Amino acid sequence: MEKKITALPGDGIGPEIVSSAVQVLQAIAQKYNHTFHIAVGAIGGAAIDQFNDPLPQETIDLCEASDAILLGAVGGPKWDNNPSDLRPEKGLLRIRKHFDLFSNLRPVQAIPSMLHSSPLKEENVKDVDLLIVRELTGGLYFGERNRDEENAYDTLTYSRKEIERIVDNAFQLARLRNKRLTSVDKANVLDTSRLWRQIVEEKKADYPDVEVEHSLVDSTAMKLITNPASYDVIVTENMFGDILSDEASVITGSLGVLPSASMRGDNFGLYEPVHGSAPDIAGQGIANPAATILSAAMLLQYTFELSDEAKEIEQAVARVFEQGFFTGDMAAKGTAALSTDEWTEKVIAEINPS
Ligand code: NAI
Ligand code: MG
Repeated sequence: MEKKITALPGDGIGPEIVSSAVQVLQAIAQKYNHTFHIAVGAIGGAAIDQFNDPLPQETIDLCEASDAILLGAVGGPKWDNNPSDLRPEKGLLRIRKHFDLFSNLRPVQAIPSMLHSSPLKEENVKDVDLLIVRELTGGLYFGERNRDEENAYDTLTYSRKEIERIVDNAFQLARLRNKRLTSVDKANVLDTSRLWRQIVEEKKADYPDVEVEHSLVDSTAMKLITNPASYDVIVTENMFGDILSDEASVITGSLGVLPSASMRGDNFGLYEPVHGSAPDIAGQGIANPAATILSAAMLLQYTFELSDEAKEIEQAVARVFEQGFFTGDMAAKGTAALSTDEWTEKVIAEINPS
């Protein structure tokens, strides 16, 4: 198979972890006789510095000409006081919107050998295998907003069409898994949530084999910690999904292992770790590349439909954890931590033993 991928390293630890994932993709290409052409583009703060634009047209053109996008992370203190159109995060919001990537998939899976780094009770997290489906191009993050010294507002709107397509997507994903769907809203207060709940109820008829429950976001936030293994697929709106998926990262013990895929209903997708640019550890070569490497596995799975190759990456990552190799964010107290490059080499050695 011959394919084009655009890599957008971004800021902070972005370049370090994207480099790891690219090396792993090339190891897979070598083993399975594929050719992945990987072009590098600018986004975020790096693009502001170079082009005075967090998402330059050059980058959009590069992505348009590719089959998939692999992204690191954007943002950092250097740009925190920029006007809102010149903030790194704006590049991310714009690329999601430009490609209409309305469905953000965030799997959270407990790998036994990494649970020592979870602050939760091992018996509560050991069976966790859930998928958060977050609406990504609507809601509060895209609504009209304004502020002066005395007042500020943000608007939360959702159309029927926006809700229907993400709900359909979640039902279909539930069907491919354990046929259990939890729809999360705040229908006791918000009208957007009432419409959301109504549409989930309507859609149920199209998916009679899927068991559906509605859950309010506040109690879901609690249950995600006390009984995370009870969930299979969770579908929710943009902001709730943002918050719940960061919360879900404590299940695995580190943000550094959570991948994501952003899709629009065909094979095209943008793949990125759930975490941010971690400016506190940037440039030190100690970031955990697992989330980005697992995002690359999702790319192989969802965009190229290369299931065996995707599984090979996931299993290589799990085996490296099983062997007791961790970067600093996950290493148990008193044990040696591997650098980003050392850890990446372990994964590559699992794929292509020399
Ligand atoms: P963050 O996710 O960057 O970091 C939170 C904590 O987790 C930090 O202590 C960091 O060192 C650690 N961490 C994150 N990823 C790690 C990894 N791979 N390996 C080891 N440790 C890791 O979130 P924070 O600190 O709130 O935001 C930092 C910057 O990132 C901000 O500018 C923010 O706007 C941006 N951001 C960007 C996102 C994106 O590009 N998708 C998402 C979230 C935040
Ligand atoms: Mg977030």
